[in-house]
Amino acid sequence: MINTVAISEDIHFVGVNDRETHLFENLWPLDKGVSYNAYLIKDEKIAVIDTVKSTKMDAFVEKIESIIGNRPVDYLIINHMEPDHSGAIKAVKEKYPDVTIVGNKKTFEFLESFYGKMKNYYIIEDEDVLDLGKHQLKFYLTPMVHWPETMMTYEMTEKVLFSADAFGGFGTLDGGVFDDEVNLEFYTDEIRRYYSNIVGKYGAMVQKALKKLTTADIDINVIAPTHGPVWRSNPSCIIDYYDRWSKSETEEGVVIVYGSMYGNTQKMADFIARKLAEKGIKNIRIYDASKTHVSYIISDIWRFKGVILGSCAYNTGLFPAMETVIHKIENSQLKNRYLGIFGTASWSGGGVSNLDKFAERMKWQQVGESIEAKSSPKEEEFKGCVAIAQEMAQRLIEERED
Ligand code: FEO
Repeated sequence: MINTVAISEDIHFVGVNDRETHLFENLWPLDKGVSYNAYLIKDEKIAVIDTVKSTKMDAFVEKIESIIGNRPVDYLIINHMEPDHSGAIKAVKEKYPDVTIVGNKKTFEFLESFYGKMKNYYIIEDEDVLDLGKHQLKFYLTPMVHWPETMMTYEMTEKVLFSADAFGGFGTLDGGVFDDEVNLEFYTDEIRRYYSNIVGKYGAMVQKALKKLTTADIDINVIAPTHGPVWRSNPSCIIDYYDRWSKSETEEGVVIVYGSMYGNTQKMADFIARKLAEKGIKNIRIYDASKTHVSYIISDIWRFKGVILGSCAYNTGLFPAMETVIHKIENSQLKNRYLGIFGTASWSGGGVSNLDKFAERMKWQQVGESIEAKSSPKEEEFKGCVAIAQEMAQRLIEERED
C-alpha cells in the first residue's frame, strides 16, 4: 500500500521523506531529516508540480502511479531547479515521455545545464495561466527566493499556492503532513533554520515576492511548499513569519556565542548571561561555537535582537569557530541588532580586535565597550561585562510594548 495524502479530491501530496542524508546541500545538518514535497493535480490534464531528490525518485514515481494508474502525466511544472526538487525530472520524463515540462526562461537554462536538452518545453511568462480542465494554474515569477528561476504556481479553483522553497523548512513529515496535524513549535524552529541559512540573504526579494502576492490580491486557502508541513488551517501564520524574518524583525532576547579554548571566555559568557537574567531578560541562548553547528546559531540570531560575541585569540586571530559564525552573519546581511563584544588574549591579541572590525563592517549598534581580559577575566573585566549586560537589557526593555 502506498502512502499518498489528499489535499482535496483532485490535489495530492506526493512528496517523500529523507532521513538518510546527513547534510542538506552538504552543509546543513539534517538531524531531523527533511521532506521533499511534490504535488499532483488530477484533472482532464494531469499536472505534477515539482519533483524530489534523485535518490528518492522511485518512491516518488510509485506515488504518482498509485494515484493516476495508467494515465500519463501531461505537465511537469518546475517551480525551482535546485536538485533537491529537480532530481527526478529525468525519471518522470522516462516514465512519461510525452510530458510537457513547464517553467520560465531561466528554468530551462538550468535544466539544460544540469541534465542536458530534453523535449517538450512550455515556457511561461509572469502571470500566464495553464488550463487543466476544472483547475487553472497561474504562475508568479519570484526570482531569488532563493535562486534566479524560482517561481510559484497558484491553483485558482481551490486556491492552493505551490510556493517552492518559500515557507518550507527542515524536518521530515512523520505521519502529519498538514499544519493542523503536527507540533508547530518543532517545525517553526526548523523552518526558521531553513529560512535563515538558505533563503535569508535574499530578504529584499522575499519582500518583493510577498508584495507581488498581495498586489495580485489572491485568496490563499493552502500553502504547499517544497519542504515541511502543508499549511491548510492557518496559512497566514507562515506568511507572517516570512514577512517578519525578511524585514529583520526580532523578538526580545539575547544570543551569546563564544569561542573558548580553556574556559576563560566561556566564564565571561556565563557571567554576562546571569547579569542579563537579573535584569529581566528571559530569552537567553548561550552557544559554544565549537560545539553547536552555525546553522542553529544563525537561526537564533535571526530570531532575537541582542547578539553578544566572545572570542579568545587564536594564533593572532579570531578563534576559528567564531570566524565561521561572523562569516555567516555577514554573508546573510543581517541588519538591526544590538551587539556586545568580549573575549580574552594571552600572548597575542586578535580575538576581540577582529570582532571590533566585524562590528564596524556590520554597523550594528554596539552596547558597552568591547572587553578583552588578559588570559582570564578579573574584576575590571567583569565590570565591563556587567556594563554590556546592563546596556543590552536596558535597550531591549525600552523596546517593550506598553
Ligand atoms: Fe529546497 Fe532551493 O532547494
